[in-house]
Amino acid sequence: LVKAAVFASGTGSNFQAIMENANLPCEISLLICDKPGARVLEKAKKFGVPTFVFKPKEYTNKEEYEKLLVEKLREADVSWVFLAGYMRIVGPTLLSAYEGRIVNIHPSLLPKFPGKDAIGQAFQAGENVTGVTVHFIDEGIDTGPIIAQEPVYILADDTEESLKDRIQKVEHRLYPRVIQKIVK
Ligand code: GAR
Repeated sequence: LVKAAVFASGTGSNFQAIMENANLPCEISLLICDKPGARVLEKAKKFGVPTFVFKPKEYTNKEEYEKLLVEKLREADVSWVFLAGYMRIVGPTLLSAYEGRIVNIHPSLLPKFPGKDAIGQAFQAGENVTGVTVHFIDEGIDTGPIIAQEPVYILADDTEESLKDRIQKVEHRLYPRVIQKIVK
């Protein structure tokens, strides 16, 4: 089985959804996390996935820590990288090492509402539809070729919380399916 790494910074519900998928065409052999104490780390432990945790502030710049990340990925024989709530911009060092093999999930219908708090942005803008995008990354913030999108309608009685719940349900179904489709 081909090996893949997940990058996450927070709760890790998408990591969990990927791990719980029975038909995954790859082995998740590494979780990379930039936030010591993030809840995703408990989940990795539960699933027995090795982790590499780093603090970006302890490095001179992005290039320096990304060189180390590429080393860790190569040591673990990783071919694919799945960003799942990794709240950092990937720089040229990592991007060129895994060109065309880094995928991201984002909670909006890109190119609308890139960046942070995409769900809150859509809600506060008074949109009646938003959704989920899975895409290959490039050097931009939530840009790059789109692989799959699914709309989520914003209902009259939605709160940001209820909207987030529905968006995340879609994420948890969509991400493993996209992985099944693209990983060979
Ligand atoms: C997800 O909703 C993901 O789409 C979003 O962060 C959340 C992480 O949740 N990513 C971005 O906003 C990327 N710009 P999780 O830690 O429970 O998977």
